[in-house]
Amino acid sequence: MGIVTLERDIASVRESCRIVRKVLSEIAQFVNPGVTTAAINALGKDIIRAEGAVPSFLNYNGYPEAICISINREVVHGIPSAKRIIEEGDIVGIDVGAYKNGYHGDAADTLLIGEVSSEAKRLVEVTYQARELGIAAAIQGNRISDIGFAVQKHVEANGFSVVRQLVGHGIGRKLHEKPQVPNYGKAGNGIKLRNGLLLAIEPMVNAGAAEVRVLLDGWTVVTDDGSLSAHAENTIMVNGNTPEILTA
Ligand code: MF3
Ligand code: CO
Repeated sequence: MGIVTLERDIASVRESCRIVRKVLSEIAQFVNPGVTTAAINALGKDIIRAEGAVPSFLNYNGYPEAICISINREVVHGIPSAKRIIEEGDIVGIDVGAYKNGYHGDAADTLLIGEVSSEAKRLVEVTYQARELGIAAAIQGNRISDIGFAVQKHVEANGFSVVRQLVGHGIGRKLHEKPQVPNYGKAGNGIKLRNGLLLAIEPMVNAGAAEVRVLLDGWTVVTDDGSLSAHAENTIMVNGNTPEILTA
């Protein structure tokens, strides 16, 4: 369980999360039609290293690159490639992790490339809203399932579906710690949230059905029905009634 109470540890996790957000901002400026996902990965890796951090995902369970880039029907864990070129109208999930001074930070955004369809735009908006609502439920005394309850309610009210085969997670000295943070479920179940608990809250939202599968590369998760998918993630620390969004 990632729980920080010492000021020194909190400062470390804030620093890793600051680097993650810096990478996401710089990538958002850089991504345009014609750019390869390998070039995006290289930019992200360079910034992480220039900040004295290590890319959390590189070599994690054999993952081969620093950043995950998941386009359109790809949900998460897309592997950057020199052959994959960003196009006008794409929605591009960028997922970044950085490790420094003993702590990880983890966050993702989904970028709209130029003019995207109205459905794609609405999907991405609802996904960001779901991340906000999930975070707003991460208050002291609530339970872990209150987060997924809030996410699912909003997503389904908008006619989309929440991925169930993958979940958010505790984070801290390791990238993935207890507890799991599902994006669905009933309210009022699971562990009670305590101040200092670090969570990666990360709704994955499909325009069509919830089912996903993994491509033959062993990593890329795609929607089963080929519909669009969006992903938004922040690392937060439970802090009374106002969660601190560390990767804001
Ligand atoms: N944000 C993702 C997660 O929390 C990224 C992990 S990619 C991996 O699971 F390569 F590190 F597995
Ligand atoms: Co994560």
